[in-house]
Amino acid sequence: MIFVAYRIEHAELARAERGHGRFTPKWAVHLQVAFAARGAGFLTAIVIGFLGGVGCAWGGESAGPAAGPLVSSAAVAVGEKPDAAAPVIAEVEKRCLDETIYMIGRERAERLAQLVRERKPKLVVECGTAIGYSALWIARELEKARTAEHQPKLITIEIDPQRAKEAQEYLRRAKLDHLIEVKIGDAKKVVRELQGPIDFVFIDCNGPNYFGCIDGLKDKLSPGAVIVADNAGISAASMKDYLDFVRKNYESRTEWFDTDLPWGKRDAMEISIVPKQAKPGDQPKPADKQ
Ligand SMILES: C[S@@+](CC[C@H](N)C(=O)[O-])C[C@H]1O[C@@H](n2cnc3c(N)ncnc32)[C@H](O)[C@@H]1O
Repeated sequence: MIFVAYRIEHAELARAERGHGRFTPKWAVHLQVAFAARGAGFLTAIVIGFLGGVGCAWGGESAGPAAGPLVSSAAVAVGEKPDAAAPVIAEVEKRCLDETIYMIGRERAERLAQLVRERKPKLVVECGTAIGYSALWIARELEKARTAEHQPKLITIEIDPQRAKEAQEYLRRAKLDHLIEVKIGDAKKVVRELQGPIDFVFIDCNGPNYFGCIDGLKDKLSPGAVIVADNAGISAASMKDYLDFVRKNYESRTEWFDTDLPWGKRDAMEISIVPKQAKPGDQPKPADKQ
């Protein structure tokens, strides 16, 4: 019963996420039927949802609009922690789209989350929080990786105090605030006060500011640190000094994304990796050692 109710809750999230153009498994469609019936009573919804799952041959992928990846989180086995961030992410995403608050959008957020998952950083720094959309994606990965021995942290920096306050509130509601510090100020200055080693950086605070951010961070990056910079396509000209720097000093590549954002259909992220070991040319010469 609990499992079925849990699935219904996530079908609700799927509805909120409609329109992202992804595959809808049949069982998710059955759950949407259960959700539709919820007005007739919670118990009724459970029964209909269950019957739908058992015997209904109708529906399939064509029966409803595509559902986003939140649906797949409904498949979390009993005993795993529920994803408290998912409904907040959906809400923030909708608000950003409705009110034209620039954010990375789902396609790049998924890639960003994947990079965080792979790097498993202890300390992440984000420059440009807005109202917390990308911070929620990053922090959710940090929370999943958190253990008694591994206590990751995200420091996110936003120049607009009102936005910073709103981000803080969304992160609290997503139950992620224990691993996040929201700092208010100019990221170019704030990063100079931070202590390393920093394992992961996400820069998304207007192209002309990017170089100042990396300049203040470069000496605090750990070997193998990952640096992701958004808008490397549409803002390539205004962040040229940044792009020149990372392409010269790190292993760096540009990844392009087709997006479904009202303000842009295609943009790139520059993904740079700090070398694990100093390059031979970086070793001090014998004469330098004295
Ligand atoms: C594109 S939005 C960030 C979106 C956010 N990363 C996301 O995906 O949800 C850029 C944000 O950077 C902030 N910003 C601009 N200049 C800044 C600076 N010098 N330091 C810190 N934040 C800055 C803006 O106020 C704005 O909220």
